[in-house]
Amino acid sequence: MQLLYLSRAEVEGLGVTMKDVLRVVEEGFRLKGLDQTEMPPKPGIHPRDNAFIHAMPAYVKGVEAAGVKWVSGYPSNLAKGLPYITGLLALNDPETGIPIAVMDCAWITAMRTGASVGIAAKYLAKPNATVVGFLGCGVQARTSLLALAEVLPSLREVRCLDVSMEATGRFIDEMSKWLPGLQFTVCQSPRDLATRCEVITTAIPIVTQPEPPMEAGFLEQGALAVSLDYDSAWTTEAMRECDRFVSDDIDQLMGTKAHHVYFAGIPSTIHADLGQICAKLKPGRQHDVEKIFAMNMGIAIDDIVTAKLLYERATAMGIGTKLPL
Ligand SMILES: NC(=O)c1ccc[n+]([C@@H]2O[C@H](COP(=O)([O-])OP(=O)(O)OC[C@H]3O[C@@H](n4cnc5c(N)ncnc54)[C@H](O)[C@@H]3O)[C@@H](O)[C@H]2O)c1
Repeated sequence: MQLLYLSRAEVEGLGVTMKDVLRVVEEGFRLKGLDQTEMPPKPGIHPRDNAFIHAMPAYVKGVEAAGVKWVSGYPSNLAKGLPYITGLLALNDPETGIPIAVMDCAWITAMRTGASVGIAAKYLAKPNATVVGFLGCGVQARTSLLALAEVLPSLREVRCLDVSMEATGRFIDEMSKWLPGLQFTVCQSPRDLATRCEVITTAIPIVTQPEPPMEAGFLEQGALAVSLDYDSAWTTEAMRECDRFVSDDIDQLMGTKAHHVYFAGIPSTIHADLGQICAKLKPGRQHDVEKIFAMNMGIAIDDIVTAKLLYERATAMGIGTKLPL
């Protein structure tokens, strides 16, 4: 028996695009909405303050994908010149349970996270949105912008705010090469960032004692907020003033809240799981002035469907190292 090992460079070299990832992630959400997936709550260990190593298993029946991601997030790595997010993903054959692949998961995590923002925007943003914004201009903001550019055909302006001017500059340099038609605006404050923004994605470090910069009254009528950083960026009042609050996994949201560390201030009513919206079991945006909040914590289904796509592409192209089991 053999498994296929894919390094980060090999994963990145397969030519899989954001459009490809959006397609499989949307299908994963749809199958989740139809109850065609199995995804237990993720267990984690926390060897350092504000750091995590999570196990994220999932089985997606409709596309016969099964596996587990073992991913760490260490905020202290940045000062050491090391990446914040690192990890591995193992795929299994759902028929026999036998492991078929092990691959680096940093690219998968970034791309599927961006795709989850794109899917939230496809169903919950104004379809003719022209202005999006980012609080935190790091890795997840980059892939989120790639996805938003795919799903919002009228997109023209990207508003940016980061505590590091250097990070903002690097974001604009890199992303304007990928997306040359867009205008990038450096913002002066969180309120300034929200001005005219129709989709705001927040992607700053998740901390246990946050001082959220995004306050009530900042979000414009008709805007969509997508949080990738739990409740680190948004005050209780800012989350509660939204007309609807949705999540990529209500069970994970409530399970995490039950540990009394995160999500104390989220609204008491969670209107829908993103999967139910993709499966057309719950409505997406209903009118132009609704303020909607999407709490996208990141789910294993998104990782496993993306990994299956990579495995199939690598097998077809003969890329990767075969290792004995
Ligand atoms: N929900 C998901 O699916 C998912 C997946 C991966 C990562 N994440 C989370 O997304 C967040 C960002 O991850 P990343 O990989 O992009 O990290 P990153 O380090 O690449 O980028 C984070 C950026 O935020 C900036 N920043 C820090 N504090 C700030 C503040 N108060 N205001 C403005 N900018 C600030 C930093 O300077 C940095 O540029 C993390 O919280 C991470 O845990 C979520």
